[in-house]
Amino acid sequence: MLLDVQNLTITFNTKNGLLTAVRDLSFQMETGETLGVVGESGCGKSITNLAIMGLLPSQAIVSATRLSLEGKDLLSLSEREWQRLRGKDIAMIFQDPMSALNPCYSVGDQLVETLLVHRDMSKKDARLESLNLMEQVGIPAPGERLKAYPHELSGGMAQRVMIAMAISSNPKLLIADEPTTALDVTIQDQILRLLKDIQEKRQMSLMLVTHDLGVVAQNTDRIQVMYAGELVEAGLTRDVIHHSTHPYTAGLLAGHPDARQSADKTHKARLPSIQGMVPNLRQRPQGCQFHPRCAYAQDKCRLEAPKLTGQVSCHYPLPGSSKIC
Ligand SMILES: Nc1ncnc2c1ncn2[C@@H]1O[C@H](COP(=O)(O)OP(=O)(O)OP(=O)(O)O)[C@@H](O)[C@H]1O
Ligand SMILES: [Mg+2]
Repeated sequence: MLLDVQNLTITFNTKNGLLTAVRDLSFQMETGETLGVVGESGCGKSITNLAIMGLLPSQAIVSATRLSLEGKDLLSLSEREWQRLRGKDIAMIFQDPMSALNPCYSVGDQLVETLLVHRDMSKKDARLESLNLMEQVGIPAPGERLKAYPHELSGGMAQRVMIAMAISSNPKLLIADEPTTALDVTIQDQILRLLKDIQEKRQMSLMLVTHDLGVVAQNTDRIQVMYAGELVEAGLTRDVIHHSTHPYTAGLLAGHPDARQSADKTHKARLPSIQGMVPNLRQRPQGCQFHPRCAYAQDKCRLEAPKLTGQVSCHYPLPGSSKIC
């Protein structure tokens, strides 16, 4: 087991009181697997990752019965130990590569610096390794590109540089938080293929966070669906995509154009899209968090919060709709 997260709860202490953004979240990741995390905006995907990286702001209160990487307890790490772990064992790439790169230094200098911090090598070797990494992430004329400053790169190239930096220390886990949303569609595909390729070659674990179920359908082994900071459905990608049983997952699938084309007509008529919004986390509804938006909600859903049982956290799961995504 690589990553073990049990009963993770993240609460923010804000001016207007406490806000619990992630509630009782449990999941695990094995070495070499790709996990897709989906859910609408504000569902707690990024702050879960920031908790795993030890990067939450100081007003966040994190509790968990277990948060460990390869058996090492992350909750008891000192700031120095976190720094050693970040970049080395766990690396993260973000939505906007431009804002993650330093505009004042050339790409080569930033890559060399990262290598010097995390790997015991001479400056000369770090330069050679930078070239090697640029090639691995498919950057043409890497020698020239190393001299470039971030603003001289296209979005796709900048994201490739970020990926090169992220994999430079051979991390065990790479978290890609919406790595392609800032890019146009053809580049998105290339970057996803590159990530998958690197993950397979290096037997690295990859967590791919996205709004798009189509993206996870094609690129992941397992999926977990988050809603209002809770896990609502989790399982093997093909099971979740073809037999989604949570009305929220089914709604997300119905919103995906490919799924919409292939979904059967009766089901589509019942789940045209998900009406409404993710609840205000300061005024969470009683019972199931999804019930105000759920076409299938019954009294029990309004009163009692469901627990994750098997693949799904729902009092009245769907029979397992058949969809091809
Ligand atoms: N610094 C903060 N202070 C208070 N609340 C916060 C803070 N950061 C995040 N939150 C709360 O946590 C919720 C989840 O945020 P998060 O960034 O994890 O969402 P997300 O699922 O990654 O959304 P998106 O898809 O838009 O990236 C937010 O809706 C917000 O209510
Ligand atoms: Mg996010």
